[in-house]
Amino acid sequence: MIIAVDGPLASGKGTIARALAARFGLPYLDTGSLYRATGVAVLEQGIDPCDEAACAAAARALDITAIDEARIRTAEAGAMASRIAVLTGVRTALYELQRNFALQPGGAILDGRDIGTVICPDADVKLYIMADTETRARRRWEELTARGEAISYAEMLEQTRERDRRDAERPDAPMRAADDATLLDTSSLSIDAAVAQAVAVVEKRQKA
Ligand code: DC
Repeated sequence: MIIAVDGPLASGKGTIARALAARFGLPYLDTGSLYRATGVAVLEQGIDPCDEAACAAAARALDITAIDEARIRTAEAGAMASRIAVLTGVRTALYELQRNFALQPGGAILDGRDIGTVICPDADVKLYIMADTETRARRRWEELTARGEAISYAEMLEQTRERDRRDAERPDAPMRAADDATLLDTSSLSIDAAVAQAVAVVEKRQKA
């Protein structure tokens, strides 16, 4: 079984995807971490984020076993990930890795922006997780400030809007729900309630 979980920043897609992976015993890939790690490489190597060939080379050179979790979770890394994710060269460089992960025997669960539309249009279950912008900005702001990052809520709200715009408006693999995805709005749901709804969608598909 392949499960695709897409949605914008801080919609809850990662939490839901991890819970589904544990529940159904599936390997899980957070595809945003690949774009974030590429963004960090671009920052650390002083690569021009408009230089498509150099950014694509950084994506191809990624060692996914050596991704620094703390470093890729900063607001700076997320913003750079969104910038380099508009480049077709970068997306092509990361495609095969994601596709191979999805096609492993027994299936897999992947979360991102284009899993149900581009990486796994053939997924057995597609979920699109959303929440209103203010709720998502607040969640992300609380997460970052708890980790000691100095960022105001107003800045976080602006960054969230900018990220959404860039992710949704890029011509190549824009963030959007697949036509056959089930939409799940987590704005006023607890984590447990959101996970329970996602589990119900998967179980219904299994029975069908
Ligand atoms: O899910 P995230 O916030 O960690 O993702 C960071 C950025 O990476 C996101 O703003 C856009 C990009 N991304 C993408 O373009 N496609 C994906 N499948 C996953 C992430």
